Amino acid sequence: MLNKYLMLALAFPFIMEAGAKEKEALYKDAKQPVETRVADLMKRMTLEEKVAQMCQYVGPQHIRETQAKFKGQKVGKNDDAHGFYPTLSVNDLLRMTEEGKIGSFLHVVTGEEANELQKHAMKSRLQIPLLIGIDAIHGNALCSGVTVYPTPIGQASSFDPELVEKISRQAALEVRATGAHWTFTPNVDVARDARWGRTGETFGEDPYLVSVMGVATIKGYQGDDMTGTDKVAACAKHLIAGSEPSNGTNAAPMDVSERTLREVYLPPYKAAVEAGVFTLMAAHNELNGVPCHADKWMMTYIMRGEYGFDGFIVSDWMDVERIHDLHHVAPTMKEAYRETVDAGLDMHMHGPGFMEGVIELVKEGKLQESQVDRACKAILEAKFRLGLFENPFVDLKESKKVIYNGQHTASALEAAEKSIVLLKNENLLPLDFSKYNNILVTGPNANNHTILGDWTLQQPEEKVVTILEGIQEVAGKNKVTYYNYGDDVRQNSPEKVKAAAEMAKKSDLAIVVVGENPLRYQKTKTCGENIDRMSLDLLGTQEELVKAVHATGVPTIVVLVGGRPLSVNWIAANVPALIQAWEPGSLGGTALANIISGKVNPSAKLPISIPRHSGQIQMIYNHKPSQYFHKYKDGASTPLYAFGYGLSYTKFDISAPVLSRNKIANNESVNVSVQVKNTGNVEGTEVVQMYIRDLYSSATRPIKELKDFARVSLKPGESKTVNFTITPDKLAFFNREMQYMVESGVFEVMVGSSSMNKDLKKVELEVM
Ligand code: BGC
Repeated sequence: MLNKYLMLALAFPFIMEAGAKEKEALYKDAKQPVETRVADLMKRMTLEEKVAQMCQYVGPQHIRETQAKFKGQKVGKNDDAHGFYPTLSVNDLLRMTEEGKIGSFLHVVTGEEANELQKHAMKSRLQIPLLIGIDAIHGNALCSGVTVYPTPIGQASSFDPELVEKISRQAALEVRATGAHWTFTPNVDVARDARWGRTGETFGEDPYLVSVMGVATIKGYQGDDMTGTDKVAACAKHLIAGSEPSNGTNAAPMDVSERTLREVYLPPYKAAVEAGVFTLMAAHNELNGVPCHADKWMMTYIMRGEYGFDGFIVSDWMDVERIHDLHHVAPTMKEAYRETVDAGLDMHMHGPGFMEGVIELVKEGKLQESQVDRACKAILEAKFRLGLFENPFVDLKESKKVIYNGQHTASALEAAEKSIVLLKNENLLPLDFSKYNNILVTGPNANNHTILGDWTLQQPEEKVVTILEGIQEVAGKNKVTYYNYGDDVRQNSPEKVKAAAEMAKKSDLAIVVVGENPLRYQKTKTCGENIDRMSLDLLGTQEELVKAVHATGVPTIVVLVGGRPLSVNWIAANVPALIQAWEPGSLGGTALANIISGKVNPSAKLPISIPRHSGQIQMIYNHKPSQYFHKYKDGASTPLYAFGYGLSYTKFDISAPVLSRNKIANNESVNVSVQVKNTGNVEGTEVVQMYIRDLYSSATRPIKELKDFARVSLKPGESKTVNFTITPDKLAFFNREMQYMVESGVFEVMVGSSSMNKDLKKVELEVM
């Protein structure tokens, strides 16, 4: 009998050969097509390894921080801060990474940390790199020292998709520079309830504008086909309809008809899938009685079946678990795993249990291995396309040249300037600073980082220009007096109001910066994720502050900072100048000062209606004809400021629209043209908007819907022609039988400077 040494010696050449073969494995050959590499790798993977690709965990630094925060406390099952795993240490996660049991991490906040994790992944049997995801919602702002761009509500206010694509491209480079490859952006939820704290992270209330901006974001992050080490996978979220929660609170249930889903909430997803978005995220909420994470109709039939989505779908934070412990649909956690994977979910964000559960379910025949393969294949495809097999590590020296570089900050400034909406101006702006000698700047948001918005962690002071600093830069420091009202927008402080008014008496101009606090790392936050409100009024004594300053007779400019529309009725009626700054980002202070001084002529328009009262919600411009058949007894039915509205320092004249033909067949297109003229004294940019209404239809249609827009820059006296094309899809809708079609009849085509009738001129188009 051969002894074991001899056996080993005889086997040695074969082991060597197998090793050599492993080196030459097709999947490691960058010259092979991605499909071949994925197929080759999957052939080598065990069921366990494939399921592991579906598993995501939070990064070590995030774990350490949450652990420290929750030290000794019992974390409730519905507590959202499950950023650590009581049963797993960071070392356990590193070991699991080496064992190939983790496919992805999220919230890895430095390049060093990302490289460290990849080093462990490279020790695994098949050396599959990790896909690292982060919420880079408006810049990679969960990391420190980065460029922070305006939040999406401000980006949408620019009505400038090229700009949104450009800043998303830059943000992608900053994401890769910190070792991440995947962003949970864009949020293409159509925001129809401003009480919802996440409004600022959306592109507003209009399905068309949301679609255009969502697509621009995806293109910026992914490029054409998401191939290369400078690309980032995008994620359209959250499937679906959580942006009009029944009571305004995040994750509350939604009951929505299929018609409203298809007309309002689904179009941005359809557009995102057509633009090649590689990932989707399911929503926290239930839809019509089914938790979105278990909604097979939505994930499998509509997204994959109808729209042809072939990337992967990730769960949202703890929502697989919540099918069991919140929604009470799955009696066990394992059943929750089964329902979600069966419904079409591909990756579990985040934590233990899922992997073991899914493996058992496949072995028991309750899930098919083909369902695991579907998920694994798409996740691996992303890793190959993003170049991770060749380059799992990030070059930290190169990163320094990318993050917060001059090009990026210049675009952040441009974006901020284009996102700030001038709501009211009674001959006060633009301001000639040389005429004022004692400018009072005050208010809770005047000198802090609230301008950075949600999805931001602490940024270095020197990389943020606060509003006070911006005003000081433009006006000259010696002319500006700052009264520190305190940062807490909720505070009730009659004494501070009084003190501010005393200072206003000595001033010749006052700039009062009020609004909300979106900073997730502060206890005083009032908007952002999970920070929903009952009312849209200014909190604390902010309105009193404005009233007291204004009562002194000093010319007063009010600036609103925050991610949601606020019902500032008194301010709108009384102060001479009101500016909606949203959350303008790192260079927000400079941008605002440039607008106030007239160095930049404001051009932004509201992507969302500003209600007069939260009781008016649902307050949308694209409502059905009967929405205000009866009026409110105790107030107006109109918004305080309408969708599409925003002032400039010049005046524009937009002519009545002219059609290339007044009658078309239902499969034909037609051209619409208008002349836009700058009739004022300064150069400016108008956002020309085209709305359409189907006058008679088998099912009710909104009174108008945005169908196209164009930014037009004009010198004083200059005019330009703007052309829009009305294609059949701009006239189509779901008829009474839910067939998507263009019905014959008359359509009103309205073109102008806002969604208000007084700003629109119209022409009729007949479809035969
Ligand atoms: C949010 C997602 C986000 C995820 C990861 C969740 O709470 O709903 O939008 O991508 O956290 O941070």
